[in-house]
Amino acid sequence: MTRFFHRLSLTIYSLMVIVSIIVLTYIGFSYYNKPIEERFFDPNYALLKPSGLIGHGLGIIGSLFIVIGLFSYMIRKRFKIFARLGLLKYWLEFHIFLCTLGSILVLYHTTFKFGGIVSVGFWSLVIVWSSGVIGRFIYLQIPRTIEGRELTLREIEDYKSELDLELLNKYKINISDLKGKKYSNEKLKLVAENISAKDFKKVKGLIKAEKKISKRIERLDRMQNLFKYWHVAHLPFALIMLIIMVIHIIVVLTFGYKWIF
Ligand code: HEM
Ligand code: HEM
Repeated sequence: MTRFFHRLSLTIYSLMVIVSIIVLTYIGFSYYNKPIEERFFDPNYALLKPSGLIGHGLGIIGSLFIVIGLFSYMIRKRFKIFARLGLLKYWLEFHIFLCTLGSILVLYHTTFKFGGIVSVGFWSLVIVWSSGVIGRFIYLQIPRTIEGRELTLREIEDYKSELDLELLNKYKINISDLKGKKYSNEKLKLVAENISAKDFKKVKGLIKAEKKISKRIERLDRMQNLFKYWHVAHLPFALIMLIIMVIHIIVVLTFGYKWIF
């Protein structure tokens, strides 16, 4: 995927999430805003209640999105035969998008009324979603190959040495001279006195990359451990959510709710 198509896909993901929230809020604002006892008299009750045409549909489509977003990423990550199907990082972005959109549709399906055992499933979904946001932050702190594999400490240090050498050989900048000082524009300008404007931009980029990688090396151990613990906290809630979702589906089918089927 080229840079352009990658950006386009991220824009489309964000727009779809924002438009869904706007449309669903617009359609149901007066209904969702009413106390539970008064909702029955709302003209949209038949459509928007959790078993209504729209409300029920939102539950089914939202759950499907979550299940697809979850298993597509897990399968792509775990089975080597799918390794050629696009970069893992694109699949993680797809996972985040589908799980986020799915959670929003399920939220509107509940009509903001969280009762019974199924509400445990809903709150598990909220916990998985929120911990996903934290996990994404930690994930980004661990340097990876373009394929999404975690780099070893040695590989990261090799990369840092390459940056240091490029600065030293090409631009006569010793990075250890800059350590401890702020990488402000003024100081950089001084360092780059005999460097052309075009090269100056390049040097600035190299120093920025050096600074970032040094920071990541410093906290690599901590982040890797944190990420391990994060998986331990994240998975059980995903499992609870899925189990309650299945029980909920069996119960509503037993009670004869069929949606459009
Ligand atoms: C993670 C997914 C889901 C969550 C968290 C969820 C949550 C809820 C909640 C909180 C309610 C309201 C309960 C009440 O009225 O007190 C509800 C009702 C309902 N849900 Fe779901 N739901 C999910 C998925 C589904 C799916 C996939 C279906 C369809 C197969 C479905 C069908 C229904 C139906 C028909 C009702 C109305 C039940 C009634 O009025 O007695 N839900 N759901
Ligand atoms: C709400 C529904 C979600 C569910 C049920 C869910 C579930 C999962 C599960 C089970 C995994 C483990 C996959 C594996 O190791 O094979 C995972 C990984 C991950 N998820 Fe989610 N997730 C959800 C939403 C999100 C969101 C909203 C984000 C970020 C904003 C997110 C970010 C991540 C990250 C960073 C990983 C780790 C990837 C890795 O270690 O390779 N998730 N998710």
